[in-house]
Amino acid sequence: MTTREDVLAALRAADGAEVSGEAIAGSLGVSRVAVAKHVSALRETGYVIDAEPGAGYRLRAVPDAPLPAEVAAGLVPLGDAAALWTRLEGGGVTGSTNDDARALALAGAAEGTVVLASRQTAGRGRLGRSWSSPAGGAYFSAVLRPRVAPADVAPLSLVVGLGVARGASALGAGDVRLKWPNDVLLGGGKLAGVLLEMAAESDRVEWVVAGVGINVRRPASDPAAPGAAYLEDAVPGVGSAQAVAAVLGGIAETYAVWTARGFGSLRAEYDAALALLGEHVHVRDLEGRVVGSGAVEGVDEGGRLLLRDAGGALAAVASGEVTLRERAHDAERGAQRR
Ligand code: BTN
Repeated sequence: MTTREDVLAALRAADGAEVSGEAIAGSLGVSRVAVAKHVSALRETGYVIDAEPGAGYRLRAVPDAPLPAEVAAGLVPLGDAAALWTRLEGGGVTGSTNDDARALALAGAAEGTVVLASRQTAGRGRLGRSWSSPAGGAYFSAVLRPRVAPADVAPLSLVVGLGVARGASALGAGDVRLKWPNDVLLGGGKLAGVLLEMAAESDRVEWVVAGVGINVRRPASDPAAPGAAYLEDAVPGVGSAQAVAAVLGGIAETYAVWTARGFGSLRAEYDAALALLGEHVHVRDLEGRVVGSGAVEGVDEGGRLLLRDAGGALAAVASGEVTLRERAHDAERGAQRR
C-alpha cells in the first residue's frame, strides 16, 4: 500500500470518528505535514474529510467512483473468493481500460491485475463497436493468464459473463439473465457488457484481458439510453465501487471453477440464467450473415449455443450476435420496404 492508501485506511478504520493527524503520522512513521498533504490529495479525488483544529480528521464521505481503495474495501468481506485480485489501478477517466490492461499484460503484469475507470473516452464493445462509457457507469479490465491451450479458451467469455451475473445477483438485483455469449441483462435491458481480448502462442494462452462495463446509475448525459438497464434501479443506493467489488467477486468464483473443473461444471447454472431459452433466433456473424437459426436449447461444454432447427436437428454455434427470429424477420422486411 502507498502512504496515501495507509492514511485513507487509518481514517476508514476510525469508522466515522475523529483521528488525530499526530496519531496517523505516528502509526505510519511519517510527519504530520505529510499526513496533511495526503489528506488534501484524497480530498481532490472526492473524499470528504473534515479537519477540526486540535481535534483531528474525520472521514465523512467517499466518492462514488470505482477507486482502487474503495473497490479493495468492498473485496475484503468476500475473503478468499476475491484473493485473485491482487493489483487494482486507475479509477478515474481513461480511454479504454482494455487498452490500459493490455499494455500492462504486455509488460508482464500478473494475473489478477485490474484497471478501473469511472468514465472512458474511447470505450470499445464487441464486434468492433464503440461502448458508450459515461459517468454513472463502472468500467474495468482484468488481466487473466489461464493455463489452457488457445483451442480451450472459448468458454471463458461465458465464464466471465456468468461471474458478472453472480455479482449483480449477490447485490440483490433480481431477474439477472445472460444473453449468449456474455451480455448481462436485468429486467430485459442490458446491464453489463463483456469484451475479451487475448494473445496466444500456438499451444498456450499468454494473457486474456476481460473488460466489463456496468451501467450503475442512469447517466445525466443520456438518461433514456435505449435498451439499457441500471443496477441502481434494482439495488437503490448501490455505489460504483460496491458494484465492481461484487462483480469481481463473482468473476473470481466462476473463473476458479472453470480453471479447476472446466465449463461443464458451470453449464447448468449458465443455462438456467440464459435469456431466450426456447425462443427461435438467428445468429449472425460480423457481416450480418446468418450462421445459425433455431430454438435456443442451451450451451454445450465448449460454450457454443445449441440451436434446434425446424427439422429437429441440433447445431452448435461458436460465435455471433443473437436476435429473435421474429425481430430479425421484421427488420429484414423493413429493409426490403425501404
Ligand atoms: C459489449 O459490446 O457488450 C462489450 C462491452 C465491453 C465494455 C467494457 S468497459 C471496460 C472495458 N474497456 C473497454 O473499452 N471495453 C470494455
